[in-house]
Amino acid sequence: MSKKRIAVLTSGGDCPGLNAVIRGVVKSADRLKWEVIGFKDGFEGMLPPGDYVILDRASTTNIMSMGGTILGTTNKGHFVAKVGMGDKTAVPPDVLQKSKKTIEELRVEALIIIGGDGSMTTGLQLFEEGFPVIGVPKTIDNDLEATAMTFGFDSAVATAVDALDRLHTTGESHKRVMVLEVMGRHAGWIALHSGLAGGANVILIPEIPFDINIVAEHIKNRDAAGYKSTMVVVAEGAKPKDGGTIVRKTESGEYRLGGIGEIVAREIAKLTGKETRTCVLGHLQRGGAPTTLDRILGTRFGVKAVELIQQGKFGSMVSYQNYHVEDVPIAQAVHRLKTVSPRSQLVDTARAVEICFGD
Ligand code: F6P
Repeated sequence: MSKKRIAVLTSGGDCPGLNAVIRGVVKSADRLKWEVIGFKDGFEGMLPPGDYVILDRASTTNIMSMGGTILGTTNKGHFVAKVGMGDKTAVPPDVLQKSKKTIEELRVEALIIIGGDGSMTTGLQLFEEGFPVIGVPKTIDNDLEATAMTFGFDSAVATAVDALDRLHTTGESHKRVMVLEVMGRHAGWIALHSGLAGGANVILIPEIPFDINIVAEHIKNRDAAGYKSTMVVVAEGAKPKDGGTIVRKTESGEYRLGGIGEIVAREIAKLTGKETRTCVLGHLQRGGAPTTLDRILGTRFGVKAVELIQQGKFGSMVSYQNYHVEDVPIAQAVHRLKTVSPRSQLVDTARAVEICFGD
């Protein structure tokens, strides 16, 4: 009798910890004597004749500490699911049929999808079409509903905190205002956590529209109190009270977030007369080795995904709740982003240590 065969793929933007999940899947599947294949470049690998690699102990040894994904990924292509709230996307029927054929021909009995909101939306559609799907949530933005945390987030925060530690020393030496722009399209989790841990004085997030005059006042007060410099963390999706999110149109016609850091810095310089510099952290937050926490969370998610296949709980997504790895229906996890509540304990704590949100 042939061995049970399962498949795994990584989809959407990469993040530290993806390889830890893959390794966790392979190790626990191997103990059950199952075979694992990995589709390359997200869902694209499922297009006929199927672009995949055999994943076994040998091909996944020593990958846990590696950033990125050994399988490759994409947030474009035939299965594209737009990231973000309310963006229902549909995989075209012919693409679905072709992928189904690949799955059947390769004798794949279960498909583990590691991805964010967009990928889970695609995963849900595949499940509704009869694919035996299990979801594993990932995103550095930590904005997926139905899981208290995604792996990749802690690593991104660690990178941003390291940047803040460095900006502190140069900012103090020159008595400047330093503005750090971090990722976070719809949610300010990276800005809030890194700002708290990195000793920021101002945190601007999408959930709390800011008034630049209030930010400038805060900086002037700090100046008067004798502080040499001020650290400002801005999420890329932060917006002023009277304006919208800052996006740039690329040559290929795509809209990308970014640029708010520079605008905030310019306004601060104008209103306070202080020398100001901006640093855009960009994809540094997505690259590099995962933190200890993300390695452990990734491993736990991978092991849980295999357990869910064993239990036949298809259409479920692995979820982290109260220090436990559980599962929820994928349908419950998509189209609802988890954002920072302006009235949360974390925001209150930040305010208590004199962090200004510009409101
Ligand atoms: O969704 C994760 C994320 O890191 C966002 O914070 C950021 O805006 C986006 O991905 C960048 O995507 P890309 O790699 O396509 O530029």
